[in-house]
Amino acid sequence: MHADPDAAESVAGSADPDGADSAAAVAAAVAAAVEPVLAAVAGAADPEALRTTAAAALGRKGALSALNHRLGGLSPEDRRGAGAVLNEARDRLQAAVAARRAELDAVARAARLEADRLDLTETLPGPVRGSLHLVTQTRDALEDTFVGMGFVVAEGPEVESDWHNFAALNMPPAHPARSNFDTLYLDWGPPESALLRTHTSPVQVRLMRDQPPPIYAVMPGRVYRKDTPDARHTPSFSQIEGLVVDRGITFGDLAGTIDTFTRAYFGPGITSRLRPAYFPFTEPSAEFEITCTICGGAGCRTCSQTGWIELGGCGMVHPNVFAAVGIDPEEWTGFAFGFGIDRLAQMRHAIADMRVLADNDLRFTTQF
Ligand code: DAH
Repeated sequence: MHADPDAAESVAGSADPDGADSAAAVAAAVAAAVEPVLAAVAGAADPEALRTTAAAALGRKGALSALNHRLGGLSPEDRRGAGAVLNEARDRLQAAVAARRAELDAVARAARLEADRLDLTETLPGPVRGSLHLVTQTRDALEDTFVGMGFVVAEGPEVESDWHNFAALNMPPAHPARSNFDTLYLDWGPPESALLRTHTSPVQVRLMRDQPPPIYAVMPGRVYRKDTPDARHTPSFSQIEGLVVDRGITFGDLAGTIDTFTRAYFGPGITSRLRPAYFPFTEPSAEFEITCTICGGAGCRTCSQTGWIELGGCGMVHPNVFAAVGIDPEEWTGFAFGFGIDRLAQMRHAIADMRVLADNDLRFTTQF
C-alpha cells in the first residue's frame, strides 16, 4: 500500500474554513496524514515500495513539507506547538521507515543466504581401497611362517649368470638336467651366459658365497621359463627356496622342517610326506607332498584320488654344490627345498586356471 501524495496534499491544504489556521488544526492534519503513511510503511513489500512511500511523506514535495508550510500562517505560540507536533511526526515516520528497511534487508539477506547455501550433506563414493595381489599375499604369509620358525628372508637378482643358475648347482654345461628348464637367455655377454633365472636355487649359491654358515634362510622371488601358458603353467611365476647349513644337519631335520611348516601354514589336519626324487643339487633328493587341501586326504579329482598333492622338491645339499661355493662338506651339512608360490595359492583357493594370476582382471584380483 502506497501513501497517496495527493491525499496528503489535500490534508495539508485543509485550512480552517474561517481563514484563521490554528495549532490544533495543524496537529489534527498531521495526525490524519501520518497514520496512513505509517500503515503504508509497515506494509511496504520491498525496498522500492518503501522508498516511494517514504518520499511521498517525508520528501521535499511530501505531505509533511506541505504541512510545514502552514506553520507560516500561525501565531508564534501556535507555530511552536504545531512545529513540535510536526517534528515528532517526522521522527516517528523516519524511525518507522528505518525499522521497515531493516526488516526488508534481513528478509533479503536470508533469501540470499538460502540461495547460496552449500549442501554439505552430500556423500560421494570415496576412493576405492586397493589390496595386495594374491601372490604377494601368499608370499607374505609364507615369509611370516618361516620367520616364525627362525629363518631369515633373502633375495637375489632375476637376471642370473649361467654359473649361479646351473653350473654351481651341479649342472655343468651339457648336463641333461638342464633340459628340464626351458631357459630364456639374454643377448648380453658371451652366448648363453646371462639368463632369466629358471628357479630361486641360485640364491642359495649367492648366500653361501656371501656368508659363512650357519645359514637358515628362505628366498622368495620371481622365476622365468620359456613355457607356453596353459591352465598349470605361466612363463613367469614365483618360488620360495629354503636353505639350512649347519653342523650335524640330517635328513630327519629336513623332514621335520617340512612337516612343521606344512602344519603351521595349512593348519591342523594337513601333513606332509617325502618321496624319492632326483635333483642335481641335492643328494639324496625328494619330492614333498602334502595332504590334498581340496578333499582333506579322502581322494578327489585334483589329487587323482591319491589324497596327496605334490608341492616341491628338497634334499641334502650336494657335496659338489658345497665345493662350488667353498664350504667344507666334512664340517658342514645342509638341506634345501623349493616350491611354487603361485601353485600354492592355486591349491589353497582352488583356482582352476593359473593364467588369471597374471591377467590383471579386477574381477579376479579384487576377490582377495
Ligand atoms: N629348483 C627346483 C625347481 O625349480 C626346486 C627345488 C628342488 C629346489 C630341490 C630345491 C631343492 O632347493 O632342494 O624345480
